[in-house]
Amino acid sequence: MYFEKSKGFPKDFLWGSASAAYQVEGGWDADGKGVSNWDKFVRIPGKTFKATTGDKAVDHYHRYKEDVKLMAEMGLKTYRFSIAWTRIYPNGNGEVNEAGLQFYDDLINELLKYGIEPMVTVYHWDMPQALEEQYHGWENRQIVDDYVNYAKTLFERYGDRVHYWITMNEQNIFTSFGWLKGMHPPGKENDEKMFYQVNHHANMAHAKTVLALKEMYPDAKVGASFAYSPCYGYDRKPENAMAKADYDDLQNYWWMDIYAYGRYPRSAWAYLESRGVAPQMEEGDAKILKKAAALVDFMGVNYYQTCVAEYNDINGVGMTNTMNTTGEKGTAQVQGVPGLYKNPANDFLPTTDWDWTIDPMGIRMCCRDITSRYDLPVVISENGLGAFDKVEDGKIHDPYRIAYLKAHIEELKKACDDGCRVLAYCTWSYTDLLSWLNGYQKRYGFVYVDREEDENSGTLNRIPKDSYYWYKKVIETNGEEL
Ligand code: BG6
Repeated sequence: MYFEKSKGFPKDFLWGSASAAYQVEGGWDADGKGVSNWDKFVRIPGKTFKATTGDKAVDHYHRYKEDVKLMAEMGLKTYRFSIAWTRIYPNGNGEVNEAGLQFYDDLINELLKYGIEPMVTVYHWDMPQALEEQYHGWENRQIVDDYVNYAKTLFERYGDRVHYWITMNEQNIFTSFGWLKGMHPPGKENDEKMFYQVNHHANMAHAKTVLALKEMYPDAKVGASFAYSPCYGYDRKPENAMAKADYDDLQNYWWMDIYAYGRYPRSAWAYLESRGVAPQMEEGDAKILKKAAALVDFMGVNYYQTCVAEYNDINGVGMTNTMNTTGEKGTAQVQGVPGLYKNPANDFLPTTDWDWTIDPMGIRMCCRDITSRYDLPVVISENGLGAFDKVEDGKIHDPYRIAYLKAHIEELKKACDDGCRVLAYCTWSYTDLLSWLNGYQKRYGFVYVDREEDENSGTLNRIPKDSYYWYKKVIETNGEEL
């Protein structure tokens, strides 16, 4: 759609930035914190780039005041961060750890002191290892109760001050990397049956958490953050258009329909049933999912890239566990599901050094699709560019990041003109941080952190990059000056 004049962003638009506990905090065993599945996984040789861990990360646990002060100077309206389950319940259930609760109390209060709205992610992938040992974590339905118990503890403690809650971060990623690709804990490969079962457990945990929150704080705003890659059909060949429909049902709507409608897409379900991998649902589940969906306030979207779907022969490519984690451009491989689709590169679009497609218009596509399919407001909970940054004379010039963010914000503005209700835009990330599989060299932040892959390297000093000052202006002008 074309509009002669843009209405711009809403007045109360939340300009934000995001992080996740494991990627920034460090202090992996500080003050009674328990061991998480990631604390364990990163110690398995070959799992992460140059064996990097989040043991120290960027030490946000000890430097949060300095980080929040920089946010305040920038004028940030909201800061999205996650809570480490293992700081609250070191064993996943049982005894609560007061020191852990206190840390997030302090962080929230520090944000509020400067008028920054905390946006809290309940779960950003770091599950207590004790639950893995007790009953295999997400594989066992028991986790639903433990998850809800943990979430309720957060609502009780912080619900008076936190108005925006995100239940799950990228359920589609942690489950596919954990049970299909073997690249996240628990490191299983091609276990399709369990993959769908685990997802059902996560869906129930999400739904029951939404219900619990709304009972305690009916006015709180809640949603899940989905890693949404809108998909283009390869060309006008009908088989390729059908490949796109298959991709959407199995890779996008499979999750978003649950969050927004409380049901699985029919054709995806039929396909999984025919192959004997549909999840087992218990009596009453469908009702709970529907009830929660009716109470969800927004769709959280982590947007990085679009993809292409092309028909994939039954003998065609499958899913591989290879990925460009080194930043050597051009090393990514085409992946697919035999008989359905494969995802070739889009030669109309440039890519990052890690072979992620750069497609600003995709962010508008996300908003448009969510608006017409679900009629829900959108929170962009992540969007950003992972790049190599260099310090020159104590400064970091990152025009590539500014160009990336500018182009995406321009498209987001168009989405607002299109009538999409966009509530917030959080860049990934605020400070540089650990990129799970790609180490510290893949940097996303507005604030540079002096550290390399080696745990003992760097001063951990913070230096605002050029993009920091640029975003400050964007916030000041409510997105008018880009
Ligand atoms: C999202 C995650 O998948 O993308 C973040 O929610 C992650 O935790 C971000 O860091 C960027 O991905 P990566 O692999 O480049 O770190």
